[in-house]
Amino acid sequence: MGIVGNLNPEQLQSFHSQGYLVIESFSSPEELESMIKRMGHLLDGFDCSSTASVFSSKNQKQLTDDHFYDSVERISFFFEEKAFGDDGNLKQSKQLSINKVGHALHEIDPVFTKFSRSEKISSLLSSLGYKRPVIIQSMYIFKQPGIGGEVVPHQDNSFLYTEPASCTGLWLALEDATITNGCLWAIPGSHKNGLVRRFIRDEDGVHFDRPSPSFDHKDFVPIEVKAGSLVVLHGDLIHQSFENQSSKSRHAFSLHAVETDGCVWALENWMRRKVEPEPLYVS
Ligand code: FE2
Repeated sequence: MGIVGNLNPEQLQSFHSQGYLVIESFSSPEELESMIKRMGHLLDGFDCSSTASVFSSKNQKQLTDDHFYDSVERISFFFEEKAFGDDGNLKQSKQLSINKVGHALHEIDPVFTKFSRSEKISSLLSSLGYKRPVIIQSMYIFKQPGIGGEVVPHQDNSFLYTEPASCTGLWLALEDATITNGCLWAIPGSHKNGLVRRFIRDEDGVHFDRPSPSFDHKDFVPIEVKAGSLVVLHGDLIHQSFENQSSKSRHAFSLHAVETDGCVWALENWMRRKVEPEPLYVS
């Protein structure tokens, strides 16, 4: 249907051997600016008193779970763990307290939809062999200076599982990502060892179906990239990021794609949609 892959054989070879690929200058400075500005606007309009109450309520777990589950088809704001003082109030402005915004910016907001449904995203997924891909979630990640929390080693297929597994992460650096402000780290080739565990939702909430194996820090390599670079992550790649202990933020916009042609969304996933997502293309 006219979708032509945009990865060359060297890039594909590198992706399949390493489990990730960096595409420099994937987005122009103007495109990055449009997304950063748009998020600033959304944040200005966000009334944090409503969500902050989630964290001080007696029914904290249920409310927190509901906020999380309901975010599937919304633009929802999530705070950094270290954003609140002992009194339950934010220690700094909301702009510097949000951990991420998820999980449907790509469907609801026109600026993020434009990027997410752009031809270059479709071409990329076509290169990777997707026949009828959907973007199942998006996240604007702030990695705030000083308090931006760590993301422990994981595989994206644990959270966004299809049978057979088909998730690919597309991680766009909106700002330079460095070792000091909390760039991605990954174990090259780890995707070849398959999926280690799954994140299951049941009547008790969410949990992993088995403990995490331990990883050797020496096996991880930093993926430092310039703003505008796109990092493509295989769904079975072990990756993580550390706390941002610098004074610079590290904004990123991430998309996760799954295949819907021949792959079935697992009912035990935390994410349960009321409305099926629109495929990017059908080939
Ligand atoms: Fe991830």
